[in-house]
Amino acid sequence: MTIRLCVFDAYGTLFDVDGAARSAASGPDGQLLAQVWPQLSASWRRKQLEYTWLRAAAGHHADFAQVTENALDWALEEAGLDDAGLRARLLELYQELPVFAEVPDSLRGLAARGMALAILSNGTPAMLASAVRACGLQDMFQAVLSVEDVGVFKPAGAVYDMVGARFGVAPQEVLFISSNGWDICAGAAYGFRTLWVNRAGAPVDRLFGRPDAVARDLRGVGAQLGDV
Ligand code: LAC
Repeated sequence: MTIRLCVFDAYGTLFDVDGAARSAASGPDGQLLAQVWPQLSASWRRKQLEYTWLRAAAGHHADFAQVTENALDWALEEAGLDDAGLRARLLELYQELPVFAEVPDSLRGLAARGMALAILSNGTPAMLASAVRACGLQDMFQAVLSVEDVGVFKPAGAVYDMVGARFGVAPQEVLFISSNGWDICAGAAYGFRTLWVNRAGAPVDRLFGRPDAVARDLRGVGAQLGDV
């Protein structure tokens, strides 16, 4: 079946989640973060994802802005950083994360060949709108779908259902693209065609689905469209 739509995960796939701590480390708060920002950023992201999975499993939803704050508080405490100004600055920077370098040209290339593009993300509508606007990609996507419309995080099936509900396509007509291995496994099990953007060179997750294709970054998407 022909692929009619490319659906992108947002955080880690389009937006560089390390961008907030990296940028803060080179700004006015830099002396606090110089040595620790990579570890802080990794803990922040890990806790953020854990909290989404645990909230989904337990039926205790809170939006991604809340989860992101909670995860940052955990990571700051772990790092021994008790600084309200730094906390506020990191959350502010998270609203305007940078995109990975190849993202704009890759998206433009897909749009130029007539592919419909969308985002499907845990982010709140406000967070996603802010991040997309900050990198000037607001005209690139036919839809920016947020889990807030279904009130549960990935990998709940209700989230992946949003794509068919919005676009009227079958899962096999969708190429789902994510850098999160677990998101790809779940999307594959759901029935999407999948491209795992394995930026970190990580092993494939041992879960309930496997990626159809793997690339190092988004430049691999165009090449896969005919093959997956
Ligand atoms: C998202 C997270 C999983 O954007 O990165 O949905």
